[in-house]
Amino acid sequence: MVDPRAYEAMGQPVTGIRDPYFLSIMAEIQAGLREVLGTKNSKTFPIPSSGSGGMEAAIGNFVREGSKFAVFTAGHFAERMATMGQRHRAQVVRCNKEWGEVFSREEASAFIEREKPDVVAFVQAETSTGAYQSGRAITAAAHEAGALVIADCVTSMGAMPVEMDSVGIDIAYSCSQKGLSCPAGLSPISISPRAWEWLERRQDEPFTWYFDLRLIAKYFEEPHVYHHTPSPPLYYAMHQGLAVIEEEGLSNRWERHKTVGQKLVTELVKLGFEPLVKKSGDRIWHLTVVLPPAHVDEAKLRDRLMNKYGIEIAGGLGKLAGKILRIGTMGPLSTEDQAAFLLDAIATAI
Ligand SMILES: Cc1ncc(COP(=O)(O)O)c(C=O)c1O
Repeated sequence: MVDPRAYEAMGQPVTGIRDPYFLSIMAEIQAGLREVLGTKNSKTFPIPSSGSGGMEAAIGNFVREGSKFAVFTAGHFAERMATMGQRHRAQVVRCNKEWGEVFSREEASAFIEREKPDVVAFVQAETSTGAYQSGRAITAAAHEAGALVIADCVTSMGAMPVEMDSVGIDIAYSCSQKGLSCPAGLSPISISPRAWEWLERRQDEPFTWYFDLRLIAKYFEEPHVYHHTPSPPLYYAMHQGLAVIEEEGLSNRWERHKTVGQKLVTELVKLGFEPLVKKSGDRIWHLTVVLPPAHVDEAKLRDRLMNKYGIEIAGGLGKLAGKILRIGTMGPLSTEDQAAFLLDAIATAI
């Protein structure tokens, strides 16, 4: 759900790309993104795309042709990272687990010590399964092996801890349409000083021009060298999305998502649903993924919820298609009242 303040902000006049007002909004967005990502990285800015563009930028800049790219895969979006790595002609190696599981420190270390990759990637909040992996089990072993770490924070940012610096993530990317409650179209990305030095030393040019981070970064710094034309309404929305989070307080926002998410799971279990992720500590708070009771057809249930109540719930992706329900309760939707409305609707519709 787009926050009402983001909607309102999008009606402001569209300025030129070097207008001082626009530049001030841009600088405040960069500061706000550092807060929600938990980083001091100066190289933190939004790029013009949905979350997949952030993924392509991270991989296109840091995964070179022929280099070894190790991906922790236990869901659809981690698979997408591996596929992108292949398209960028890397030597992709996967550490696979059942979808919905998370990786232990021992599993991560054994894989990284064996493979000795140049770059390691994982998904912090795997939206296809509802599993949350902070990354702490992965980053130390990756750094010991001299690898850079890319984290997909598309679903975690703004709703759950990313804590980029303390977890040890080198490159994090996200999106505007989930934890920030804005329309899709801007993908925040942040790069650690260590990763930026690596990029500065990179001799060959990345295959991608549009997502060349060295070129894009120049627009966000004096003298704001033109790279692409940004869309001011999307920036205005993100500016407000971040302001709403700052006013609520990031940890209060996390707590709200956690409380509502846990309540939702408890009540759904009473109705006969089963969480896909077994351990409660491994679950995403604002994306509840459940298997329906045996007698319930998930597609028909989703249709009934949409047609009768205007509630949109997602189904499964990839090998979980037709098997699960994915219920997003993010930003303004994450309240006790909204959860009660949803649970009433589900109880009637099953
Ligand atoms: C974890 C994760 N990564 C990447 C993406 C791709 O983002 P987008 O659909 O904004 O391109 C998504 C989308 O839901 C996602 O959940």
